[in-house]
Amino acid sequence: METLEDIKRDIMQCKRCELHKTKTNFVPGSGNERSEVFFVGEAPGKEEDLKGEPFVGNAGKLLTEMISLMGLCREDVFIANVLKCRPPNNRDPLPEEIEACGSYLLRQLEVVKPSVIICLGRYSTRFIFEAFGLNFSSITKLQGKVFEVSAWDKSVKIVALYHPAAILYKPQLRAEYEESFKRLASLVKKRQKSLFDF
Ligand code: URA
Repeated sequence: METLEDIKRDIMQCKRCELHKTKTNFVPGSGNERSEVFFVGEAPGKEEDLKGEPFVGNAGKLLTEMISLMGLCREDVFIANVLKCRPPNNRDPLPEEIEACGSYLLRQLEVVKPSVIICLGRYSTRFIFEAFGLNFSSITKLQGKVFEVSAWDKSVKIVALYHPAAILYKPQLRAEYEESFKRLASLVKKRQKSLFDF
């Protein structure tokens, strides 16, 4: 059976698109292989490119705070991006880059088999919605809603949220953002309880 280490090894020698030429480090993803909760970001930014870790810049600090509102810490969850290399100047991912890189994320999901997938931002939401047969409209319409799909012989919840960078840019959205994460806490707790009851 494939492991996250196997996937990381493939990522670290990837030349499927041009981004490997301009990146400093690959950012494969990090966290708990056995986590019930999988966060999907878009692509590494400057800090992530320098450190080889996802969400370690300002948006990452905000994400860490939001994860704590769920009663969890970063070691409890798994975090990976759709793209494993930084697009120059943090430009938006290109369709051909998503096409080339997306299968790494799908393989990571296959290993972790999370019960809750939280998509951060438009690109990750569109990618995950398409991969799980959900209809993507717009992040503004979908954000905060919980969708349920069947995968890995269980029910999997998929949630779209604004990207934390958007909240840094528009602090007036922060209170609503915090509420969304608090609601997610009950989703995770409910699941843990039902596992316990089983
Ligand atoms: N933004 C993302 O989408 N991912 C990161 O890892 C950092 C910033």
